[in-house]
Amino acid sequence: MSDTNNKDKKPLRSQQWYGKLDKDGFIHRSWMKNQGLPDHSFDGRPIIGICNSWSELTPCNAHLRELAEYVKRGVWEAGGVPLEFPVMSLGETQMKPTAMLFRNLMSMDVEESMRAYGMDGVVLLGGCDKTTPAQLMGACSVDLPTIVVSSGPMLNGKYRGKDIGSGTDVWKFSEAVRGGKMSLDEFMRAESGMSRSRGTCMTMGTASTMACLVEALGMSLPENGTLPAVDARRQALAHMTGGRIVEMVKEDLKPSDILTKSAFENAIRANAAIGGSTNAVVHLLAIAGRVGVDLTLDDWDRIGADIPCLVDLMPSGRFLMEDFHYAGGFPALIQRLSHLFDMSANTVCNASLGEITEGAECFNEEVIRPLDKPLRANAGIAVLRGNLSPQGAIIKPSAATPELLQHTGKAVVFENIEDYKARIDTPELDVDKDSILVLKGCGPKGYPGMPEVGNMALPSKLLEQGITDMVRISDARMSGTAFGTVVLHVAPESTMGGPLALVQHGDEITLDVEGRGLHLHISDEEMARRKAAWQPEKSDYHRGYAKLYIDHVMQADQGADLDFLVGSSGSKVSRESH
Ligand code: FES
Repeated sequence: MSDTNNKDKKPLRSQQWYGKLDKDGFIHRSWMKNQGLPDHSFDGRPIIGICNSWSELTPCNAHLRELAEYVKRGVWEAGGVPLEFPVMSLGETQMKPTAMLFRNLMSMDVEESMRAYGMDGVVLLGGCDKTTPAQLMGACSVDLPTIVVSSGPMLNGKYRGKDIGSGTDVWKFSEAVRGGKMSLDEFMRAESGMSRSRGTCMTMGTASTMACLVEALGMSLPENGTLPAVDARRQALAHMTGGRIVEMVKEDLKPSDILTKSAFENAIRANAAIGGSTNAVVHLLAIAGRVGVDLTLDDWDRIGADIPCLVDLMPSGRFLMEDFHYAGGFPALIQRLSHLFDMSANTVCNASLGEITEGAECFNEEVIRPLDKPLRANAGIAVLRGNLSPQGAIIKPSAATPELLQHTGKAVVFENIEDYKARIDTPELDVDKDSILVLKGCGPKGYPGMPEVGNMALPSKLLEQGITDMVRISDARMSGTAFGTVVLHVAPESTMGGPLALVQHGDEITLDVEGRGLHLHISDEEMARRKAAWQPEKSDYHRGYAKLYIDHVMQADQGADLDFLVGSSGSKVSRESH
């Protein structure tokens, strides 16, 4: 069963399953042959796993079985054997209490499936917010040759002749209804026009952000991040990716060869340049942890803060992913900013980022702006520290109101999301436009799962006055499609007794983005007194995965991975199954 062409090379991992002339080899081959695979499938050619997060419950991934067929064409053509396998799928808009609770669980599914089965390389097929990071986290902990094909964004949403963006316009329409500026009937009619093709959210939300960052990390072929889901060129890209993974196996080109510190730094720069999601912070930190790269929260501020946002996409700007692709996509953007990136970073093509994007042109300077006309000059994530966030908190200044980036106001405190929902629209709520809304109980352990509720909607009595933004602070995340002066990921979270837990109604808080500060104006003695009186809430989760998650999840500044999942166990399996 050994491959005569590969005699001098490292034997393929899959031969430990399919290359043995004994009882174990018989068992592994014989059962696989029930799918019509001929003898030569096991003669030492690369076995390629297609890790598919297809699910009809994850609408953004519902077309991935079809896309997998194109990957298979490429694998066969290059002399490999493709074997598609399902993994858990995380539908961002469908799962409760939040898809983020399950990101780490999905990563375990990906990791253990890759290690337990006899594959030599893997194509990750995914695309909703959490499926991309979960798949990469799992694959990094195995470190077999890996390449990504993303779902691709939906076509632009349309309503009454205008483009509307996933998520971003939901938040806008919803506030318009609450402020009496849009009828409920109009609101309901916008629903069908928003999601009118297969694919992921077509704003620069978390799914598009992560797909672009996959490209920046060097983990996909060029244009993977932006090609619309329904564009035939995505199917061609899937076909070419199938061919490329077979070559990667022969080259033994693994994630650890590509995902260096430099690659992550490029991804941080890219996140600023595209006006990307704040969720990328926790995801990149978690992926880096799996591949052994020492990436910290402060790297985000150090590397990304001065990078201009050139991509004029919602939620920060005007356009949508289709427009970004037609304007030249990610390769055109990176060429424009090549002086700020490490263009020598390696990629899945075994060629540098500079080489694979060379010659890429911009075809629409409204969408990918010139350097002298950025959408925002300094667009990175700002990391805020102070007595309210000793381990850090983040804000996306490009999505905030500039006048609110330096602000002192009185806290209006909500002890949890239910408290917020019960009181936010009550006439007696003691709030004005200068108040700071503070939400507790929404961190990784507290919710559990750190939901996207940090962009809490404003009180309707202020919306009716025409107020459109206020400072909001929480230990939650926010949707990548959201906007506003929103301080997120406060660590330690309130459920662990972090200072956020100690804020009381009427306390004064200062947000100082330029000085990177977040300060609660109470004395150290008062802080200590409140801390001594603080009692943790009893958890409702006593069994199953949620209990495991709560017991082991790390804080947002460490990527919210489970502590025992950090690092890699490699791809070796030492024992036979029979
Ligand atoms: Fe899946 Fe936005 S909900 S990509």
